[in-house]
Amino acid sequence: MLLTQPIKKTVSRLLSAPFFDPEKQSKSIPIRHMKFDFDPKQIDPKFYLNAELASAYFASLSIFLTYGEDLVIDTARYHRDFIDDPLLKQRVTSLIGQEALHSKLHEELNDAFLQADLPVKLFRFLAHHVFEYGFNRLPQPMKLSLMAGIEHFTAVLAEYMMNHEEIFFKSQDEKQRAIWMWHMLEESEHKDIAYDVFQSLSNNYALRIAGFFPALITILGLISAASLIVPFYRKPSNLISLTYYKDMVRSVGLIFGLKNGVYGSSIGHIFDYLRPSFHPNDHDTSIFLEYYKERLLNPVDGILTPYFTKEFTPALKA
Ligand SMILES: [Fe+2]
Ligand SMILES: [Fe+2]
Repeated sequence: MLLTQPIKKTVSRLLSAPFFDPEKQSKSIPIRHMKFDFDPKQIDPKFYLNAELASAYFASLSIFLTYGEDLVIDTARYHRDFIDDPLLKQRVTSLIGQEALHSKLHEELNDAFLQADLPVKLFRFLAHHVFEYGFNRLPQPMKLSLMAGIEHFTAVLAEYMMNHEEIFFKSQDEKQRAIWMWHMLEESEHKDIAYDVFQSLSNNYALRIAGFFPALITILGLISAASLIVPFYRKPSNLISLTYYKDMVRSVGLIFGLKNGVYGSSIGHIFDYLRPSFHPNDHDTSIFLEYYKERLLNPVDGILTPYFTKEFTPALKA
C-alpha cells in the first residue's frame, strides 16, 4: 500500500491510538445519513483535477452507479434470507442501507448535473437500458456474481481515491468533494460483504468470474465511452478546439494511465479478482479507513460534519 506523506503521519498516530483495533474490521458498520442540498450553480464541471473529460467520466459514473446500486440492493435483499450467519446478515443490511443512501444522494447530485448542462437524460436512458433490459433480467445466481463484481470495482476505485486524497482538493466544489469522499469511505468499508455473500451461498469460481467481466466492460468501457459525449453536448465547437483534444489526452491518462491513472495503476488489483483464492481483504485498507473516518467525521472540522445528520447500525439478530 502506497501512502502519501501527510497520510503516513496520521496513520502512525492512529496506530498508536488506543481505539485502533484491526480485529474490528469486517464487523458491524453503520448507515450514515447525509444532507448535501446541491446547488447547480456551484457544480464544477471540471471537478476532477480540472480535466473536462475525466470529470465527465465521474459524472457519467455518478449516474450509472445509481443503477448499479439499485441492483446491489435488490440482489442483497433477495439473498439475505438465505444467509445463516447473523453477523453477515447484519452486514448485508448495512450494505443495503449504505447503497440506498448513495443511490439517493447521487440522484440529487445528478439532478444538479442536469441543471448544470450535463447530458444526464442521455446517461439515464443508456443506463436504464443496460440494467432494465440486461443485468436486472439475469438469473439470481448471476446477479449475485455481478453484485460481487461491481463491488470489487468500487473497492478498487475507493482504494485509489483514498490513496490520492489530494485529488479532491483541487476544486472549490466542496459538495462534490464531500459526496465522493463519503461514498469512497463506505465502498471500502463494505467491500467484502457482497463477496462474502457470494462465497457463502455459491462459492463457484467460474460463476464469480462470469460476473467480473460485465462489471469491467460497463465501468471501464461503457461509462468511459458515454462520457465522450459531454464536451460536445456542453459546447459543440469543442470538436474543433485544440484545447479539447489536449484535455482528452490528459483525461485518458488520468483514468487509464499505467503510472498514476485511476484504473491503469490499479490493474494488478483489478485482475487479482481472477485469482481463485482472492478475497477483498487481501488488499488491506483498514489503516485508510481509520484515517478517513477521523478526517471526514470528526465533530470539529470533519469534511462531512456539516452534512452529516445521523447514523444507525442495524441490530444483530441471532
Ligand atoms: Fe455505493
Ligand atoms: Fe458498494
